[in-house]
Amino acid sequence: MRPTLVFLHLHCLLFVFVGVCVPIAVGSLPHALPWHVSCPVRCVCQIKPWFSPDSVYHEAPTVDCNDLLLTKLPLPLPPNTHTLHLQSNLLSELDTAVLHGLTNLTDLDLSQNRFSHVRTISQNTSLSSLLSLHMEENHLSHLPEASFSSLTALQELFLSHNNLHVIAPGAFTGLTSLRRLHLNNNRLTTVDPRWFRALPNLEVLMLGGNPVEALPERGFLALKSLRSLVLGGMGLRGLAENALEGLEGLESLSFYDNLLTKVPTQALIKVPGLKFLDLNKNHIKLVETGDFRDMTDLKELGLNNMEELVSIERAALENLPELTKLEITNNPRLSFIHPQAFLRLSRLESLMLNSNSLSALHQHIMLSLPSLQEVSLHSNPLRCDCLFHWAAEDASHTHIEDTQTEKHSPRMVRFIQPLATLCSEPPELRSRRVREVSSREMSASCLPMIPTNSLPSYIEVREGGKLVLHCRALADPQPELYWVMPSGLRLGHAPSQASKGLPIPAPCHSLTASEGFNNTSSFSPGQPQDNTACNPSQHYRLLPEGTLEINKVTQSEAGLYTCVAENALGADTHTVTVGVHGRVKKRKRGNAAKMKEYQFRVDARLEVRDVGQHYAILSWQSGRNLPSTRLSWQAISSNAHTPTYTTRILAGTQSFNLTHLQAETFYRVCLRLGISEGAKRASRRSRESRKSQCVSFRTKDVPEPQPSLLLSPELTSTAVTLLLLALILLLLAGQGGDNEPGEGAGKHNSTILKEVKSPKVLIINHTDGSTAH
Ligand SMILES: *[C@@H]1O[C@H](CO)[C@@H](O)[C@H](O)[C@H]1NC(C)=O
Ligand SMILES: *[C@@H]1O[C@H](CO)[C@@H](O)[C@H](O)[C@H]1NC(C)=O
Ligand SMILES: *[C@@H]1O[C@H](CO)[C@@H](O)[C@H](O)[C@H]1NC(C)=O
Ligand SMILES: *[C@@H]1O[C@H](CO)[C@@H](O)[C@H](O)[C@H]1NC(C)=O
Ligand SMILES: *[C@@H]1O[C@H](CO)[C@@H](O)[C@H](O)[C@H]1NC(C)=O
Ligand SMILES: *[C@@H]1O[C@H](CO)[C@@H](O)[C@H](O)[C@H]1NC(C)=O
Ligand SMILES: *[C@@H]1O[C@H](CO)[C@@H](O)[C@H](O)[C@H]1NC(C)=O
Repeated sequence: MRPTLVFLHLHCLLFVFVGVCVPIAVGSLPHALPWHVSCPVRCVCQIKPWFSPDSVYHEAPTVDCNDLLLTKLPLPLPPNTHTLHLQSNLLSELDTAVLHGLTNLTDLDLSQNRFSHVRTISQNTSLSSLLSLHMEENHLSHLPEASFSSLTALQELFLSHNNLHVIAPGAFTGLTSLRRLHLNNNRLTTVDPRWFRALPNLEVLMLGGNPVEALPERGFLALKSLRSLVLGGMGLRGLAENALEGLEGLESLSFYDNLLTKVPTQALIKVPGLKFLDLNKNHIKLVETGDFRDMTDLKELGLNNMEELVSIERAALENLPELTKLEITNNPRLSFIHPQAFLRLSRLESLMLNSNSLSALHQHIMLSLPSLQEVSLHSNPLRCDCLFHWAAEDASHTHIEDTQTEKHSPRMVRFIQPLATLCSEPPELRSRRVREVSSREMSASCLPMIPTNSLPSYIEVREGGKLVLHCRALADPQPELYWVMPSGLRLGHAPSQASKGLPIPAPCHSLTASEGFNNTSSFSPGQPQDNTACNPSQHYRLLPEGTLEINKVTQSEAGLYTCVAENALGADTHTVTVGVHGRVKKRKRGNAAKMKEYQFRVDARLEVRDVGQHYAILSWQSGRNLPSTRLSWQAISSNAHTPTYTTRILAGTQSFNLTHLQAETFYRVCLRLGISEGAKRASRRSRESRKSQCVSFRTKDVPEPQPSLLLSPELTSTAVTLLLLALILLLLAGQGGDNEPGEGAGKHNSTILKEVKSPKVLIINHTDGSTAH
């Protein structure tokens, strides 16, 4: 008996979580028994199993008169009726004298009838044993004071799916035993804290589906016994810090289907006993650092079905010692989970991440979850390379080790739906099952990749509004991220090698006088004096994980914004065209037309800054973000067949060290200014609009012959050699796709990193290179 009860109880709690509580019939429950009484015509009288609100089993004399189009009570009702089902009839009032005789009536189901006044049921009757009253789906529009005061024993009251829009402050007076109250799916626009004063024993409250935009402050203070609160589908946009104050016993809380844009962290602090939290289907964009921290009792967390969620940031979930199940699924834009997003989740067993836009799950996440038993990753565009090494067929035994506790015991993490967990990148592994790819087939390191669905290619903001652009990238080694503004200004966190030692043209003059930003720590080096000079306010903000925020956008800030993610292997970029429309003017034009407005034909002064025997440093200034600029160079000699080398220039870069040049040779170098990727798609004539600038120089004389490209003695590092091999192969492969005469490799010593759109080619040939090596 006992285990059954526990089971039922649990199910009830879990179902409350999603908004329904149904006693689950398990295994060998007794069936209905015949009950020999004079039963009303067409009704069925039986002894049936019945569970009290606290899940105690009864054999209940039951009269079932559902679906009979009744307009009045059927007679005769057996005097010891315990449960009376009158669901789906046409009742609008009851003969209370008849009910009065039913002294043992415990459960009365009047749902789906035509009651418009609750007094017609409760007045003049004293149903002192009634525990459950079902009045869902009637026509109730208001509850006057003391509506149910004669039902002194009532424990459950179901009023959902009516038209309630007025509830008197004392409507529930007298219901001191009430444990469960369903008011969901009515037309309430406010929640009145006075309703709850009469309900000191209430444990479950369903308020969802009412058009309440804001909860009152301290609204639930009286509900000291509340365990479950369902606030789904209400239109809540935010939560006051003290909205949940006083809910000391609350264990389960659902905000399903609201308009929350952030995790209501401050409000959640007030419910320290919370075990189940459902934030599904909200408008949360980021789960930020500290959003879920120190919630010591939390067992299950749901962050599903969020159209706008793009990123789970570092330490978003921290110190949740009881968390066993985490669901972050069906978020079509979620492409980034920080490698350190989950900290100190010592009991997490089940991690559900299917049906997102994740390209990988960083190995660090697996290592940081010592109790993890199962993970679900299917229906994601998984990239089977370095970041996913831990998932390879032969890797799981050896690589997932508990490094922190120095227990080097291998752990097996089960994949949920392994047959549907497929690689989508690189192409030669596409559609292979992740668990069947061996780690030899996956490359060991990888280029950054910015997932395209985290950033649109065109965004329009209102003048004076806030521009927020989220850029994230995963790679190994971990990439550095920076933004290039329309002015060419580069915003990054750390000093970048790319600009080391080379002056960045002062960008500030191209910002309007009142703008700029004053945070030197978020500005790449170069000319600190300029930063401070033109940064009087916190106008720009670059958040640690790569989100760019601009407050009070002006029209002069429209243009091309490029996010660059780079690591030692290369870089990926993504350009967003930002339109800023005035407060008054509303123009209706296609995005392509709008994008064209932000194409600029600009000149850049290409200069040779320094020439050595084997290198030359070129620089240019444009005062504009030019996202697809190319540099090409060619030795000018009597031999007509010298190849032309071309390299793409990363956005925000304004100098380049051409290396591996021949000494004593004339070179001609051309810079071709780019346009945005979006504009390229928008206009077929884009190539014509490119402009080139060229300079010539001669490398210095040298006495001895110089080493050839690949056998260069200073390239002792294997990594550098491999990189070179890979780049050369890549560039050779790229031949013919472009109408360049020929493409070759410049040498890239992280001085300038190459923009490589499609990392997979590099990866294949990198692997080949290493085996051949
Ligand atoms: C109500 O139930 C009690 C206990 O089960 C029983 O003794 C009593 O006869 C019942 N009352 C009626 C009217 O049947
Ligand atoms: C309840 O009883 C009062 C008198 O005691 C009577 O006036 C009223 O009509 C009754 N209401 C119902 C719904 O029977
Ligand atoms: C710059 O930003 C960092 C981090 O956001 C902050 O710690 C620092 O105080 C800021 N500096 C200035 C000058 O505002
Ligand atoms: C940054 O701005 C704050 C206030 O906006 C100002 O107090 C501070 O001096 C500024 N810092 C620099 C380095 O300009
Ligand atoms: C450019 O590259 C050459 C050859 O690798 C190197 O000697 C020189 O120092 C570099 N110059 C700068 C400014 O990085
Ligand atoms: C090339 O890179 C290595 C390490 O990445 C660095 O030690 C070296 O100084 C770099 N050389 C040049 C010429 O920049
Ligand atoms: C990479 O290497 C493979 C195997 O050697 C070769 O077939 C392929 O053409 C190479 N790809 C490129 C882009 O060079």
